[in-house]
Amino acid sequence: MFFDKVQAAPADPILGLTEEFRNDPNPNKINLGVGVYKNDQGETPVLSCVKKAEKIILDSEKTKSYLSIPGTAEYGNLVRELVFGKDSEICSEGRACTAQAPGGTGALRVGGDFLAQQKIASKIWISNPTWVNHFKVFGAAGFETAQYSYYNPATHGIDFEGMKESLRQAKPGDVVLLHGCCHNPTGIDPTAEQWEELARFTASAGLLPFFDFAYQGLGNGLNEDAQGVRIFARHHREFLVSSSFSKNFGLYNERVGAITVVSADKEESDRVFSQLKIAVRSNYSNPPAHGAKIVQTVLADPALRAEWEDEVAAMRQRIKTMRSLMVQKLQALGVNQDFSFINSQNGMFSFSGLNKEQVARLKSEFGVYIVGSGRINVAGITTGNIDALCSAIAKVL
Ligand code: LMR
Repeated sequence: MFFDKVQAAPADPILGLTEEFRNDPNPNKINLGVGVYKNDQGETPVLSCVKKAEKIILDSEKTKSYLSIPGTAEYGNLVRELVFGKDSEICSEGRACTAQAPGGTGALRVGGDFLAQQKIASKIWISNPTWVNHFKVFGAAGFETAQYSYYNPATHGIDFEGMKESLRQAKPGDVVLLHGCCHNPTGIDPTAEQWEELARFTASAGLLPFFDFAYQGLGNGLNEDAQGVRIFARHHREFLVSSSFSKNFGLYNERVGAITVVSADKEESDRVFSQLKIAVRSNYSNPPAHGAKIVQTVLADPALRAEWEDEVAAMRQRIKTMRSLMVQKLQALGVNQDFSFINSQNGMFSFSGLNKEQVARLKSEFGVYIVGSGRINVAGITTGNIDALCSAIAKVL
């Protein structure tokens, strides 16, 4: 017997919820669990720029032969320009290398594997709360994980003092995982001043920043959302950024992302790149092509890129509209609690402050699915489901 001692694992707190939702016969059920954007008709559409890029690819593609281990150089250049800005010296000095990865999760894992294989670090500090999979991804890469304070439930805001206090316990050489923007699950990001203070602190403490940058463009704009990463780039010569194009390109099931490592100089970057390729090769050999080709085609073509930027802006705007509508509706229902904090959160998620029992009642009594932490996917709210959602929330409060 080999597998008789295998224990059944609990369902994934986010993706497992989607399964449960699918199996729920309630015709009025609402899925606000997994972070997937929906338009006001409740669909997750293929972006128009993506459709056009796919046509171009279909007509021009001549081979399905392997990509190189890190994907194409052009993809890497485009990703770095998007993250650091066109005029960034990181790009012009050749101080960063990028490997295409299967989604943001794949990028985090490749980055984690690289750090672990090179014995650069063995402990990573993760925000409390965070995207639950961070623990699994970095745990699987061999990291010891620790948590730093991030959220103050009393103010529904960032616990900046607590964050600094816990990071003071970190040892030089430890990694700090930061959410580039649209913090998952809270939707609360540091201000520019706080990013600045944090970057000075982590630099002086000898910590290695690792950005999980999965929502660029969905908070306040493509450049605006990169402010944390770009501020850190002024204080740290070395750090990592994991990018995801699941949300901002709607390419969820194509699994397209990238891991970028910034080094002190070009020569160091070349050595890092050689090891990053080994982390990829020993993991999934080389990346799938289609999703990255779409991103590359759109970003490199001025007309398609402009269309993409408009489509991202429309998603961002719709989410903001749903936030304010939700606050208004809850007020109109006579809810005592002040929910205006929902308006100041960024990106897809809102940390609602609903407790476990309230979350459970939303599901069992009203067919409203949100993550157990009280995280609501605001990008799944529509004018069609918002009344039912708000009245269900009012009832469980
Ligand atoms: C989420 O947080 O809902 C998304 O990042 C999807 C996922 O893989 O969990």
